[in-house]
Amino acid sequence: MTSPTSIPKRGRHPGRPLQVLALVNQKGGCGKTTTAVNLAGALAQQGERVLLVDMDPQAHATMALGCAPMDEPTLAEVLLEEAYIEQAIQSGPLGIDLVPSRPRLVEFEEAAERLLHPEQRLKVSLDAVRDRYDWVVVDCPPRAEGVLCANALFACTAAFLIVETGAFSLQGALQAMRVLNEVGENQGRTYEVRVVGTLFDRRMRLARELLVALHARFGPAMFNTVIRTSVRLREAPAVGLPVQALDASCRATQDFAALAAEVALMFGPESDLASLLQAGMDAPSHKPALTACDNH
Ligand SMILES: Nc1ncnc2c1ncn2[C@@H]1O[C@H](COP(=O)(O)OP(=O)(O)O)[C@@H](O)[C@H]1O
Ligand SMILES: [Mg+2]
Repeated sequence: MTSPTSIPKRGRHPGRPLQVLALVNQKGGCGKTTTAVNLAGALAQQGERVLLVDMDPQAHATMALGCAPMDEPTLAEVLLEEAYIEQAIQSGPLGIDLVPSRPRLVEFEEAAERLLHPEQRLKVSLDAVRDRYDWVVVDCPPRAEGVLCANALFACTAAFLIVETGAFSLQGALQAMRVLNEVGENQGRTYEVRVVGTLFDRRMRLARELLVALHARFGPAMFNTVIRTSVRLREAPAVGLPVQALDASCRATQDFAALAAEVALMFGPESDLASLLQAGMDAPSHKPALTACDNH
């Protein structure tokens, strides 16, 4: 990593609103960080300008991009208003920019009780750099009802619920959807909610059945792409690289390329075209069926 970046970047699609994706689930270990880092990698590989924001004091996404902040400002200092976001941005592999995290981020959680609208701080900070990126990917901590996740959800244009295709995942996903609805209602916001299945092992009957159940429950809000289990996805963070930089042709690289293509189709500039087509010609829409305030 080099720090901090000072070269102004322009979004590849000037004039198009920045897409901010919040990757959430109140459960740990379901693949949020893996999806955040490698979705960012896949989008960056398509030439998109991507900023990854590590919202977790455990800083797993930061480490997964090979970053170990010492004295440089991080998201903690940005949210505590001790630094500007531009000062905290670091350049990562594949051209991904990163706002790193560190354990001190818990100080913001503690301070939040005394602050007015602490949940708005990420959004306000991102406003300063929104011309420089096409996508912001926010990796959330497991506490979905905490102030860090609230910041991600307040800033986001879409929330991606990351669901491990394992035991009890449907119940967990429904519970997570309820939390998203509550936060959305409290914030007076609606954002689109999409569901990504991860850690999928086709050989397990349970996983196959759960995937069917998730599709049945979430319908068009469910991405067609599912992220399969892959040894490469465990190896990549250990060497501080997105999987695309470790192995350009492994199945994890393919899965994330497919996910990024779906994401770009739904939320990228082509989605504007799809909406226009729908308005004028009644073409099928790629927009999801669920919003945070849907009663599901
Ligand atoms: N598709 C996958 N295949 C193999 N291992 C995975 C996959 N997704 C995540 N993992 C591993 O599972 C663990 C938890 O994943 P992580 O992305 O850190 O979850 P979370 O951020 O939700 O806590 C990590 O060790 C990660 O390397
Ligand atoms: Mg994580």
